[in-house]
Amino acid sequence: MKKLVFLLFIVTAIVLSVPSCYYDNEVDLYGGNTCDTVAVSYANDIVPILNTNCYNCHDASTYTVSGYQFDDYTSLKDYVTNGSLEGRTNDASSPMPPTELMDDCNRALIKAWIAAGAPNN
Ligand code: HEC
Repeated sequence: MKKLVFLLFIVTAIVLSVPSCYYDNEVDLYGGNTCDTVAVSYANDIVPILNTNCYNCHDASTYTVSGYQFDDYTSLKDYVTNGSLEGRTNDASSPMPPTELMDDCNRALIKAWIAAGAPNN
């Protein structure tokens, strides 16, 4: 009996672990191009990208890690102007974030925002 309970436990554990391996993402689920690069907004598009991918080394409390802080519009604009924001987010040999380049959509949004004059919108 104990063996049976143990076996049931193992089987249940295996069955429960299967769905957790499934990886959902918007592009796979809905297909097509869900990356909207028209009228990119600093506040609504760019800041959330930087918040997720950059501020852990580049905001007021973390910039000592990198030596560069750009968690407000004015300071970010400096890195737009010197080309390093677009450069480093697209340079696979010296990427930002340092681990690997971000996905295509995040990079396309940053590019489009810069191309539109990097507005404070
Ligand atoms: C794990 C920490 C870390 C993360 C996350 C990170 N950076 Fe950096 N970043 C650094 C360090 C360290 C440097 C300085 C050394 C170097 O230039 O590689 C740096 C330098 C830079 C520079 C160079 C500034 C200049 O004028 O030379 C830019 C631009 C930059 N990061 C942008 C970003 C962006 C944009 C993101 C997010 C998409 C990001 N970083 C994420 C650590 C990080």
